[in-house]
Amino acid sequence: MLPVKKKLYIRTFGCQMNVADSQQMAQLLAHEYELTSRAEDADLYLINTCAIRRKAEEKVKSLLGSLKLLKARNPRLILGVGGCVAQQEGERLLAAAPHLNLVFGTQGSHRLPELVRLAARGRRLVDVELKRGIRELPPRQWPQGAVSALVTIMQGCDNFCTYCVVPYVRGREASREPGAVIAEIADFLAAGGVEVTLLGQNVNSYGRGLAQPITFTGLLRRLAGLPRLKRLRFATSHPRDLSDELVAAYGELPALCEHLHLPVQSGSNRVLKAMNRGYSREDYLEKVSRLRRSCPDIAISTDLIVGFPGETEADFTQTLDLMREAAFDQAFSFKYSRRPQTRAAGFPDQVPEEVKTERLIRLQALQDELTLATHSRQVGRVTEVLVEGWSKRGPSQLCGRLRTNQVVNFTGPRELLGCLTPITITAAQPHSLQGSWAPAPPVTVGGCPKHPPRRQHV
Ligand code: SAH
Ligand code: SF4
Ligand code: F3S
Repeated sequence: MLPVKKKLYIRTFGCQMNVADSQQMAQLLAHEYELTSRAEDADLYLINTCAIRRKAEEKVKSLLGSLKLLKARNPRLILGVGGCVAQQEGERLLAAAPHLNLVFGTQGSHRLPELVRLAARGRRLVDVELKRGIRELPPRQWPQGAVSALVTIMQGCDNFCTYCVVPYVRGREASREPGAVIAEIADFLAAGGVEVTLLGQNVNSYGRGLAQPITFTGLLRRLAGLPRLKRLRFATSHPRDLSDELVAAYGELPALCEHLHLPVQSGSNRVLKAMNRGYSREDYLEKVSRLRRSCPDIAISTDLIVGFPGETEADFTQTLDLMREAAFDQAFSFKYSRRPQTRAAGFPDQVPEEVKTERLIRLQALQDELTLATHSRQVGRVTEVLVEGWSKRGPSQLCGRLRTNQVVNFTGPRELLGCLTPITITAAQPHSLQGSWAPAPPVTVGGCPKHPPRRQHV
């Protein structure tokens, strides 16, 4: 009989990179632990944290507080905090939470099995070492039937935008060797995968510092040639480093999805300069129009910060103008949050909270209009959808994504899960589309209708 494995529960906050890191952690611990979706069954409970805004950090601290109860019920439970808050706080977290066993940083995954073993013997540990260079982890084990994969191609960030904590908690930028990335993705495709999202804080600078430098577009070209790869995506692109070569690739590589996430942050040159972003609004808009010329169907999404120190009403109005001009399909918008170690935390003229709130509401109202306009243009089209799971909208409603990354809900049979299928878009809402599916033979990927694949994002 196989030995019974202990149970691992992972709660993940933050960006897709954290999601990918949590998957790696589960794999590294898999010889002793199997994942559970019930926190109360856990022998090992890991929280993978995000420090990007104060709220994100507060969530972690309040979750940690609430876990005292779980630990009281099961004193043998090992409780660990990893990721960006762990990196930032280190020893302080352990001191503040006596029920916490382990704190490990953003580069600590490979040491996790050893750390957990020591914690099981009663040690309380902190491991938040940050090193230059990248450490290859063991090859990923792709579960049979996985459809979408998140693949980290680089770590860290050297940009030091003045508001951002990432360079401090993720360390210096370093790229993985292209051979390792390609082999990982080829394995995934061989296991039935179809969609790959490449991850890095600034993927456009991929390849710098490698023994044989390669551009990001060079990597895309090599990946796009892999058989079976139907959808290739990436995040995140820095507008300053978006090359003509990449713009051209949108018109040339069939697997490359017609979507780009290109965070602009502000439409005011004064604010962009204070943020240390390295481009002007004119540069940004010029890149957007080049992208639209190269790929007329492209959807462009962005990130925006309101209430950066010194942002005036006139600066903010320029952001609204830029949003209209760029005609963003989607925007993630945030109130500026002061982060430890960052330069902007010490800037004068911090904007009052109520002004930030009021600006955020206006900005989001405008984006809802812009999104609805782009969604409305999809109505009547028949378009390819990758079916990702069940919709929150109601029973037997499935949801999936267009190549342009818009979400569509529709009624259909469960056999469609994990398949690419044509959908007619019937209605547009501000945050999603409604579609209709007709029983034509679906294009089956990542499994077959008789043996539906497991849910995406392995
Ligand atoms: N590497 C990516 C972004 C990572 S963080 C890039 O450069 O675009 C994701 C988003 O969080 C950022 O684009 C920014 O809009 C937001 N963000 C980062 N720091 C923030 C802060 N201190 N306050 C508010 N939003 C912030
Ligand atoms: Fe943060 Fe700027 Fe790096 Fe993005 S590019 S992670 S916003 S420092
Ligand atoms: Fe958050 Fe760290 Fe990602 S701060 S956004 S989890 S890199």
